[in-house]
Amino acid sequence: MRKAEMTNIVEATVEFVQKELSGESSGHDWWHVYRVWKNAQHLGQAEGADMLVVQLAALLHDIADWKLHGGDVTAGPRVARQWLESQAVDGKVIDQVCDIISHMSYKGAGVSDHMDTLEGKVVQDADRLDAIGAIGIARTFAYGGHFKRVMYEPAVQPELHDSFEAYQKSHSHTINHFYEKLLLVKDRLKTSTAKAMAVGRHEFMENFLQEFFLEWNAEVS
Ligand code: ADP
Ligand code: NI
Repeated sequence: MRKAEMTNIVEATVEFVQKELSGESSGHDWWHVYRVWKNAQHLGQAEGADMLVVQLAALLHDIADWKLHGGDVTAGPRVARQWLESQAVDGKVIDQVCDIISHMSYKGAGVSDHMDTLEGKVVQDADRLDAIGAIGIARTFAYGGHFKRVMYEPAVQPELHDSFEAYQKSHSHTINHFYEKLLLVKDRLKTSTAKAMAVGRHEFMENFLQEFFLEWNAEVS
């Protein structure tokens, strides 16, 4: 594919996604997608991935998330495929992008989130980087508020879900999400570039939690 053609498809997809996700308030908004797209470009270049597949999968990965579509995990790849077909994108590229989107999601601490391809690993890592650090903390509380979750309830312990169904059904308080996902992310990243980027973000979350519990208990430090 010529460079100009690739730029056109990527630009049209940016416009499409911006329109579809504007005003989203659960942390799956355009700016989340923008950061995933940027980080995926950084990781993809460092790791030597196919940049058209990486960019399209990053841009379309949250176009119809199951959490916002009544638990329907097929909605995302379906909407992405419709869009890419309408743009006459090569069928092989469409298959690769949709395969990545359907395997992207975190499905619980005890559930494998294997990715076959380098492009899939890159886009999944870029998405996971946006789930940790300062942005990760902000998104997690935004999500909790959006879905009317309690911020913290000391008596309710985290659960390490061993099935996607159990993870989907969980309505625990927001602090538990740190133990059920965010603190586990750094060891589940697949590319060495993302692993290096995760170190500081992980530390920041640990410091945040330490301070959170200190203030929660109203102890004077
Ligand atoms: P993935 O992109 O791997 O599917 P999700 O879409 O499940 O990840 O989650 C994206 C972000 O949404 C999480 O990193 C977190 O900030 C927020 N989130 C998802 N589930 C919860 C939850 N149960 N409680 C709080 N935040 C959540
Ligand atoms: Ni995402």
